Parts: sequence; structure tokens; C-alpha cells
Amino acid sequence: MNVTAVVLAAGKGTRMKSELPKVLHPLAGRPMVHWVVRAALDAGAQRVVVVVGHGRDKVESYLRDTFGAQIETVVQEEQKGTGHAVLVALPALSKGLEGNALVLVTAGDTPCLRSDDLRSLIAASREAEIAMLTATLPDATGYGRILRDKGVVVGIKEHKDCSEREREIKEFNPAVYAFRLGFLQKNLPELKPNNAQGELYLTDLIARGAANGGVADRNVDPASCEGINDRAQLSTLEARILEDIARKHQLNGVTIRDPRAVEIHDGVEIGGETVIERGVVLRGKTRIGSGCTVDVGCVLTDVTVEDGVLLRPYSVATESRIGPRAQIGPFTHLRPASDIGEEAHVGNFVELKKTRLGRKSKANHLAYLGDGMVGENVNIGAGTIFCNYDGFKKHVTTLEDGAFIGSDSQLVAPVTIGKGAYVGTGTTVTRSVPAGALAIGRAKQENKEGYADRLRARLKGQSK
Ligand code: UD1
Ligand code: CA
Repeated sequence: MNVTAVVLAAGKGTRMKSELPKVLHPLAGRPMVHWVVRAALDAGAQRVVVVVGHGRDKVESYLRDTFGAQIETVVQEEQKGTGHAVLVALPALSKGLEGNALVLVTAGDTPCLRSDDLRSLIAASREAEIAMLTATLPDATGYGRILRDKGVVVGIKEHKDCSEREREIKEFNPAVYAFRLGFLQKNLPELKPNNAQGELYLTDLIARGAANGGVADRNVDPASCEGINDRAQLSTLEARILEDIARKHQLNGVTIRDPRAVEIHDGVEIGGETVIERGVVLRGKTRIGSGCTVDVGCVLTDVTVEDGVLLRPYSVATESRIGPRAQIGPFTHLRPASDIGEEAHVGNFVELKKTRLGRKSKANHLAYLGDGMVGENVNIGAGTIFCNYDGFKKHVTTLEDGAFIGSDSQLVAPVTIGKGAYVGTGTTVTRSVPAGALAIGRAKQENKEGYADRLRARLKGQSK
């Protein structure tokens, strides 16, 4: 069957009180509209037409970059209601389609929409002129209410237009419908703004359908079709999406200590037997192997973690790679383009940027390693700094295999420490060190016998 979906996303979203268009507010790492578009594609829509208006440039460029040619947009310059929005999309819809083509219409602010529900809507569309989803809540305040006569849907009344008694109706309109294109072509141009908001209501089409060919409906779980109008609803629905994502990982063999206390974004991959502790945030294109531990409070954005890695608490990494069985943290900071080798160790208060650390190399405490090329089995002592920046350019520090850097050393780049070389504690290295050599540069120590006692006596005398 030929199925086209229309997503209404032109509204301002006044109640969000936001500069950002409502449908671009993210849930689990994807904008609101993304979830709706994806549900439509997953349900088998061949085309998706998104009606844009407020913040259209941002919405259009997001959709283009993410979905490419699968998505078309049409512009609704002035937002004169949901009926008007579909009317504006009509010419694009009519292109190359027969009157009996099926058009799914959904709102862009219903991100929990399930493709399964859309599939059952498509099935229902065979039974009548129009099909729609409905759902039931103990209190449906704000939503359009479903009017029935002898059990059959006969119309929808917006909350603002309802009488006291009608407001007690618990069955509401989630704004997910299936129409024949021909029905829209005939009836949309006849809508009138006879309502509290002076808008063209798409919902008025339901009464027309009921009078001509009937309305088929499917009552679905309200959790999947609640809409977002403000930021309180945004967080409620995001929590729901995040819990679903966490549950999927759990069922795939990932231990997640407390699924309500982690934030795993859509698209993140995690291997089996990995343990995710509380307060962990995994974003972007993060991929975690199997048998890893991601301990309390780690935040990873676009990071690849190979199998068997131990990430100790409160480590933060971005756009980096961590090799098999490496150990990181606690309190490690990996900035973009860091690459940690197999079985390497990076410890507390160590910051890396654009640095490769080879196999089994160690930087266990208090260091800044920027723009470094570090070989295998290198030991980097506490307090080591790669002085990579001269105020104009960044320079590379190279440590060859087996080098040993004593604590509190500064390596002034560009500089190379040769294979197996030693750098004595407290040395400022400004010239490259040959393989196998020792570099030491510090003032010679002098011990003055008895000086401390004499000094103390003198100072005591002064303080009287
Ligand atoms: C709408 C329905 C209501 C339903 C509710 C479900 C109507 C008249 N009412 O109400 O029955 O219970 O959704 O969430 O349809 N939009 C446009 N152009 C416009 C107006 C709206 O694109 O001119 C878009 C909005 O961006 C939004 C969607 O349509 O994504 C719904 O509009 P909104 O104003 O949120 O409608 P509700 O009052 O929630
Ligand atoms: Ca809404």
C-alpha cells in the first residue's frame, strides 16, 4: 500500500518558553521530531512530509542532514491551526498520488509514538473512510475529547470548546489519523474556524468522516501518545524513553544497576556482560564493548570502548578510543582524539588531548598530555606535563617505547624521548633525548648541617 506520513511541526510551542523550536528539543539525544519521523518510517511510510514554520531553517536543516531525501518539508508561513497545516501540505501530497493513497497525519510533539500503533492504524484504515488512534487517561485535561454515539466515534471536541460535562470524558485524541488523500482534497478546503481559538481544526474532519463512511478507531496505551507542550512534560516523556532504552540493553545482557539513574542515549551500543553503574551518561556515537565496567558517574560522548575496559568512577571522555582491557580513572579526562592502547593505565587527574598512549603504557597520576605520541611500555610519572603550546602553535611530544619519565617533569615540545631513555625527576626537557640516555636537569642539592635548628632559634628570638 502507498503510505505517506505528514508530521505537523510548524507551531511555536509557546508554552516551552524557548528560543529553540519546540520540535527540536532533544529527548535521549534526538530532537522530538526525529522520534515521530522515525516511527512513521518504521511503520512503512514511503514518504514523510514535515510541515515547518517556526524556526523552519533549523528544523529543515536538521531533517535534511539526518534523513536526507526521505523527508520533504513544506512551509506553513502563518500557523492557522492543524487543519490549515495539512491544507498547506496538500499540493506536495497530491504530487504523483491517487485519491485512494493513504495519508497518516501525526503531530510532531508526540515523541513516544510507536510504529506498532501506526501499523494498527494502517490496518484500521481498511475498515472505514477515516481511522484514528484514541487513548484514555484518568484526567485528559488539555486534549481534544472523543465524542461517541452508541459506541461509535462521531467527533472530537477541543478542551477549550468543551462543556463542563464533556471535560469529564477520559478518552482523548492523540492526534494520529489515517485519511484517504481524496477525502482530504475534498474536505480540507471546506473547514471553517468556528471555535474558541479561531483556527482551522483538523479534528473537525472526524465529524465529516463519521457522517460519510465512518471512523474506525484503535484505543492504545496513553504512554505512547502523550504530547509535549511544556518542559515538565518534556522531562516526563524523556524519562520514559530513557527507561525503554535501558531496558533494551538489560535484555541484551548488560547489567544496569539502576535504569532510572543512568542516561543512555539513542544509538549508543553496549556489549554483553558490561556493567553500567549509577550516574553514567552515554551520548552520541558511543560504543562500548563486552565485559567492561563503567563505574559511577562516568560521562562518555562519541567514545569507542573496546572489550574488557575498566572505567573507574567520574571519568569523562569525548571523541576518543579506549583499547582492550585498558584501565581509566578515577577522575580521568580524555579530550578529543585521545587513543588509549591495549592494557594501558590512565589514573586520577590525568588529562589527555590528541594523544596516543601505546600498549601497556601508564600515566597514573596528575598529568597533562597534549599532542603526544607515546609508544608501548612507557611510564609517565606524577606531575608530568607535555608543554605543547607556545602561544601560537601546538607541538608534538614523542615518547618512544620503554621510555621512563620521572615525576614532575616538563617536556617542552617539539621534543622526542628516545627508546628506553630516562628523564630524571624534576627535569625540564627542551632538547630531544637519545635512545638509552638519561636526561637530568636540576640544581645540585646542598645539605647545611644544623642550619634548621639555628634558623628556628633565631626566628623564635625575633617573635618576642
Ligand atoms: C492537538 C489536537 C487535540 C489533540 C492534541 C494531541 C487539534 C485542533 N487539536 O491539540 O485534539 O488532543 O493535539 O496532542 O488538532 N501545528 C502546526 N500548525 C498549526 C498548528 C499546529 O504545524 O497551525 C502543529 C504543532 O507544531 C504541533 C501539532 O501541530 O506539533 C499540534 O498542535 P498543538 O497546538 O500542540 O495542538 P494541541 O492544542 O496540542
Ligand atoms: Ca500539542
